[in-house]
Amino acid sequence: MSLFLSIEGGDGAGKSTQAALLMTRLKAAEVDALLVHEPGGTALGEQVRRLVKGAASPSPVPELFLFEAARAQLVQDVIGPALTAGRVVVTDRYADSSTAYQGYGRGLDLEDVRALNRIATGGLMPDATILLDMPPERALARVDGTDGSGGRSDDPDQARFEREPIEFHQRVAEGFRTMAAEEPRRWFVVDASAGADAVAEKVWAIVSRLLDVRGIKSHA
Ligand code: TYD
Repeated sequence: MSLFLSIEGGDGAGKSTQAALLMTRLKAAEVDALLVHEPGGTALGEQVRRLVKGAASPSPVPELFLFEAARAQLVQDVIGPALTAGRVVVTDRYADSSTAYQGYGRGLDLEDVRALNRIATGGLMPDATILLDMPPERALARVDGTDGSGGRSDDPDQARFEREPIEFHQRVAEGFRTMAAEEPRRWFVVDASAGADAVAEKVWAIVSRLLDVRGIKSHA
């Protein structure tokens, strides 16, 4: 039986680290799992990734369409087939990121964003979504290294969203929290300010329970 999990959160909340740690735990438990990352995962998705993060600087509506185009291709070519094959799929960002960033962050109409999400995904939503929640001020300090972590400033095209004013990131964070409160059965909010290993433990506690409920054999 398949399971579809998404990991969401603002920039610098540690999603990619947690997604990788989760995959390590799933592999150790001999669960057949696939990790994808939005935007990306297909040839179109990788091009979109460069476009939205680079110098093209699309305005909000075209930006939304770019993310949705990448998402539609990823669902059709990768996520859908993997779920049909009974695999566990973990995605680092999914449709909720468009609602948070283009809806709450950029100010596009939330129902319009959700309608496009439905078209792009064919209505496929995650069974569970883990929100890595952390104050944007702290998360962004991690990204630019002002917290002493070294940051990610060696990535030349990572900066477009991260350069947005703090108010933008606060709207995004608040948007995620609102979505989690509106749909508490799907969302699991994890305080991401702790160290990576402590956060990973909390994430694994959630995921291993979901695997049990689904009757997916894990050897953890
Ligand atoms: P990425 O490097 O994936 O950021 P992160 O490592 O924080 O996930 O870059 C993706 C950026 O695109 C990120 O700032 C969030 C943004 N984004 C949207 O605005 N809307 C979306 O639908 C998605 C998927 C991402």
